[in-house]
Amino acid sequence: MDSLLKCIDVWKSFGGFDALRGVNIEVYGGEIVGLIGPNGAGKTTLLNLINGVLKPTKGKIVFNGHVINGKKPHNVCKLGIGRVFQIPRPFFEMSCVENVVTALLFNITHSKHSVEEKAIELLEFVGITDPSATPDAITLQDKRRLEMARALATNPRLILADEYMAGLNPSEVKDALKLFKRVKEELGITILWVEHVMHAIMGLADRVIVLDHGVKIAEGKPSEIVKHKKVIEAYLGG
Ligand SMILES: Nc1ncnc2c1ncn2[C@@H]1O[C@H](COP(=O)(O)OP(=O)(O)O)[C@@H](O)[C@H]1O
Ligand SMILES: [Mg+2]
Repeated sequence: MDSLLKCIDVWKSFGGFDALRGVNIEVYGGEIVGLIGPNGAGKTTLLNLINGVLKPTKGKIVFNGHVINGKKPHNVCKLGIGRVFQIPRPFFEMSCVENVVTALLFNITHSKHSVEEKAIELLEFVGITDPSATPDAITLQDKRRLEMARALATNPRLILADEYMAGLNPSEVKDALKLFKRVKEELGITILWVEHVMHAIMGLADRVIVLDHGVKIAEGKPSEIVKHKKVIEAYLGG
């Protein structure tokens, strides 16, 4: 497998506080990589550095052969990194389909269909049945699906997902897992996925990286991570 994303000795300080301290991670094309760790470990900060919301204090981030640290989020997105935020912020005055059309127009690569047809196709793919609904009228599950559709619309090679399962009930989590699997297998998109719902991560991720207090403390297959002494102490418990 080819290396798609590499974070090399990445540091992030907020004032005098080091939220990330020399983190090295690598993500290979076609993987689902789980990023876990206690609250405040630096998971969201790392995603923010990767997609350009924040600049690293030190270190290098390489995506698909490009050094991307310091680039603006819209430029990182154009290079092929999509993001699914924990708190969806769609355009509430627009319908679901208009939200996805807006994302499609940002990275025009879809010439085969009209953008509206493509948007409806993406909404069907994620499981939204009423494309004309406005985001304030849909369930949390559909809001997350809309986030995924908007991210897919930017034609990413890598999707960064932050706590996609939070607040979903068990059957909705099952459904979301199926969607992640289809994103990986049918669309060939790589996923770097921050999550607290452990059975979801451990059931689907190919590899798991664990952060604690801004430091990577472990990485490996889910079956190795659940037995890892440091991870149990810092996060999973006995
Ligand atoms: N903009 C910011 N300013 C100051 N401190 C921040 C900022 N963003 C995050 N932090 C701090 O950095 C640490 C890591 O935060 P975060 O990346 O959100 O953790 P996680 O997503 O793993 O829960 C926390 O201690 C948090 O309070
Ligand atoms: Mg977070």
